[in-house]
Amino acid sequence: MNYLNKNFWKGKNILITGINGFIGGNLAKQLVDHGANIIGISNTQVKNKFLEYEGVLSKIKLYKVNIVNQKKLEDIIKQNSIQICFHLAAQVDVNISKIDPHETFETNIRGTYNLLESLRNSKTIKSIIVASSDKAYGEYPLNKLPYKEHYDLRPIYPYDVSKAAADMISKAYSTDLFKLPVIITRFANIYGPGQLNFTALIPDCILALLRFRKFIPRSNGRNKRDFLYVKDVCDLYMCLSFNLYKNNRFRGEIFNAGTRTGYTVDSIIKKLCYQTNNKSLYNDIKKTFLNKKTTGEIQHQFMTYFKINKFFGWKPKYKLEQGLLETYNWYANFCNKNDYKEFINNKLIKK
Ligand SMILES: NC(=O)c1ccc[n+]([C@@H]2O[C@H](COP(=O)([O-])OP(=O)(O)OC[C@H]3O[C@@H](n4cnc5c(N)ncnc54)[C@H](O)[C@@H]3O)[C@@H](O)[C@H]2O)c1
Repeated sequence: MNYLNKNFWKGKNILITGINGFIGGNLAKQLVDHGANIIGISNTQVKNKFLEYEGVLSKIKLYKVNIVNQKKLEDIIKQNSIQICFHLAAQVDVNISKIDPHETFETNIRGTYNLLESLRNSKTIKSIIVASSDKAYGEYPLNKLPYKEHYDLRPIYPYDVSKAAADMISKAYSTDLFKLPVIITRFANIYGPGQLNFTALIPDCILALLRFRKFIPRSNGRNKRDFLYVKDVCDLYMCLSFNLYKNNRFRGEIFNAGTRTGYTVDSIIKKLCYQTNNKSLYNDIKKTFLNKKTTGEIQHQFMTYFKINKFFGWKPKYKLEQGLLETYNWYANFCNKNDYKEFINNKLIKK
């Protein structure tokens, strides 16, 4: 694959917003392995446990900056002659967005136009990938799924609206008016090593399997979701970024990605529990779904990778079962190390 060629990535100055997060951490690791200079910004403590655990922290440059601070963004972009950017910073916690929509709108919408405005003034930038989400589409009936890139965005809940707004703003910057080299991604749910936000389904279930705490249901288990493995997502980001860098005609393109399968939440938990020989936990969790109502969230979502495949021949390498097992094993090792066990316990106490 051309996009994995180290000669391309070696020495490139790459900005990752939200580097302290799950996908930012995984992508930084992958790009460091390819010889890139990684510059990351994040508003939280400047130490990412995943990057520390994986031994990557000392190989990247980090800034603690709130993405709403445009002046600082501009300075960082200029000082580091940024050539490639992955915009991943966002307030992603759906529970927080239901309680504090303002912070979600500030970070996800204002943060996005601040960043794009700062990049507009850059002389070195050649490729910007903005992470939108399947949530931007809003609710469509099951017979209209999987989503297609040309579907209207019609979200109603705060997180979903914030992603759709950022998505449309990014498209505006890519037009002939501004000619910013932007590609927008709308991916399905992502899972894998380093997802240390325990309100997400798969880490939540794994923590219960590893006996850190009880599983906390957010739905009745019957809603359908599509899941992409994070290593496939990093591969995809590199594929899109490389192609946009090489060819400006991809400016303004939007790409969905998912596996084309809607798995019920219940079936994901069942797979994880059965793979790890814990059928009794599955039976306990199943009981918690009874009478649980889902509010403020889209019912069913899944996507294809049809367009990316048509453009670049890309397809996911990981089957769900393989990704789940790798993820479980990563958490089991991570949680076994004393420092990290303590980190998780502290995180759970703070919640
Ligand atoms: N995880 C998924 O399933 C998924 C699916 C589709 C799209 N996405 C999108 O991918 C991106 C990354 O998601 P993730 O799962 O890694 O999330 P994450 O919460 O793990 O990471 C987000 C990062 O953004 C940073 N951040 C938050 N507010 C900030 C602010 N005001 N200023 C600077 N940094 C700030 C956080 O510190 C964190 O490092 C997001 O844009 C998300 O909407 C995620």
